[in-house]
Amino acid sequence: MATQHSLHKVGILTGGGDCPGLNAAIRAVAKPAILDYGMEIIGIKDGFAGLVQNKTVRLDYEDVSGILTRGGTILGTSNKADPFRWPEEKKEGETIFRDLSSLALKNYHELGLDCLFCIGGDGTLTAARKFHELGLNIIGIPKTIDNDLSGTDLSFGFDTAVLNATEAIDKIHTTAESHHRVMVVETMGRYAGWIALHAGLAGGGDIILIPEIPYDPACITAKIRERGRRGKRYSIIVVAEGAKAKGGEMTVDKVIESSPDPIRLGGIGRQVAELIETSTGIETRVTVLGHLLRGGTPTPFDRILATRFGVKALELAVKGHFGQMACLHGQEISSVPLSEAVNRLRLVPPDSALVKTAREVGTSMGDE
Ligand code: F6P
Repeated sequence: MATQHSLHKVGILTGGGDCPGLNAAIRAVAKPAILDYGMEIIGIKDGFAGLVQNKTVRLDYEDVSGILTRGGTILGTSNKADPFRWPEEKKEGETIFRDLSSLALKNYHELGLDCLFCIGGDGTLTAARKFHELGLNIIGIPKTIDNDLSGTDLSFGFDTAVLNATEAIDKIHTTAESHHRVMVVETMGRYAGWIALHAGLAGGGDIILIPEIPYDPACITAKIRERGRRGKRYSIIVVAEGAKAKGGEMTVDKVIESSPDPIRLGGIGRQVAELIETSTGIETRVTVLGHLLRGGTPTPFDRILATRFGVKALELAVKGHFGQMACLHGQEISSVPLSEAVNRLRLVPPDSALVKTAREVGTSMGDE
């Protein structure tokens, strides 16, 4: 049995891309920490940027009450703030990187923190793991709309992103049918196809293209022609931003040198639309859902998952189980070492049951 840890002052930060459920997780850590343990809560602003620059705010009960349903994060976030690789723009436009982790360590100690809760995805939790290895008391909480974190079956934000994408596909459906068009819907998801696969299935996409199953252009056009022969004069194609043709590369919209994650994906939807229009002669339009997927209020599922993670994270801290991340395995909330949770993305297995289900109902995955 681990011993009870004495925590007086704890920090919370949210890092990386925002997603619905962050405020629910902050609330779930802070409310019992204040009410049951009398802890003082320090919000670190804008992810690890706030720890490097010492930008903090004290969170009292009133600050964390009434935020359950609010999207975004009351603490702000940043995905350009890796203390171990801090970007600095030089006058000449060049970006250099410095290791400012010692500054973050100093601020942690000067703030008098006994523990830091890091709510984030792969980038934030990788930095969190390094700080734990440097001796800080760290607890991780997984969030990401991409659902690509190993170590947990689900992260919060994903369910809301799937709902947002599905609602968009439903709307695209009616206009596609009226105009006899092919409609290509591009979703976020980075290197994983979870959002496209789930929303494509839920929204009845005729073709779903994901990074894990490179597509053959001939299979896409064949599927559209086959639908035409069955009297279906429209088609819906759901494309993950990381999808790629067999033997091809992912489509990069921009490279942002100053970011620890410099590759911004995007543009594959347009490429697929051009391919279809040129090969079939059918008018084809593209909708890029982008950040719409990350916005708005979290679904009940994400509110509950974020709440369960937050409560578990506090329990881990109180027991002194630092260096752990709250996670979901099956229906159960448990924890894994941070080292197991990062650096290895959880991708869609091409032979997974969900992919097979999609194929069973006649959905093309673009490869056969
Ligand atoms: O990781 C979440 C995510 O929304 C990805 O799906 C997407 O590729 C990326 O972040 C976009 O990041 P940004 O908001 O920095 O453009």
